[in-house]
Amino acid sequence: MSALKVVALSGSLRAKSFNNAALLAAAALAPDDLSIRVVDYSAVPLYNGDLQAQGFPASVQALGSEIAQADGLLIASPEYNFSVSGVLKNAIDWLSRLNPQPFKGKPTAILSATMGPLGGARSQYDLRKIIGGLEANVLTKPEVFIGACHTRFNEQGELTDEATRKIIAEQMVALRNWIRQLGPRA
Ligand SMILES: Cc1cc2nc3c(=O)[nH]c(=O)nc-3n(C[C@H](O)[C@H](O)[C@H](O)COP(=O)(O)O)c2cc1C
Repeated sequence: MSALKVVALSGSLRAKSFNNAALLAAAALAPDDLSIRVVDYSAVPLYNGDLQAQGFPASVQALGSEIAQADGLLIASPEYNFSVSGVLKNAIDWLSRLNPQPFKGKPTAILSATMGPLGGARSQYDLRKIIGGLEANVLTKPEVFIGACHTRFNEQGELTDEATRKIIAEQMVALRNWIRQLGPRA
């Protein structure tokens, strides 16, 4: 069976982002038949309806095609002020205006990393609501909340915490199974 393609988005643009590092860990821990690629969407401008009226920016179109062509989506976001990060919400807002809308029916898994103890639980439920509203098929379990994230990665950004490695590996297996269960993309 050929490898399933998953596009991964980090809600943090920081070079040393723990969420980005968690996505790279997920890519390394994923089963052989799940290929995860972290996509840089930092060129997406702030949403403005006037800009959209001039035509979707190339960065938005490119991101939309990446997601549309992928078998699945993986999103890791930090929690900012009890919700998802602004950059991620901004990108989602742009993508939601595309036709066809790339989240519709897309098998999607979510994880979050924060330095606080809750691991982004509050924001993750907002993200579920947002992309659930866009008809993504969001995987329910296992949930992955990486609390005290600064203690779980080393200086090189490698995930060293065994319990976190285990739950992420389990989530990637569940995502692979979820994609296969939902069948080929429309
Ligand atoms: C603007 C802002 C707001 C934040 N709000 C929260 C919050 O509500 N809850 C929380 O647990 N952490 C909060 N944090 C801390 C982030 O979770 C922490 O900096 C995290 O490491 C950021 O993710 P990153 O490493 O992927 O950039 C906030 C950080 C920033 C910059």
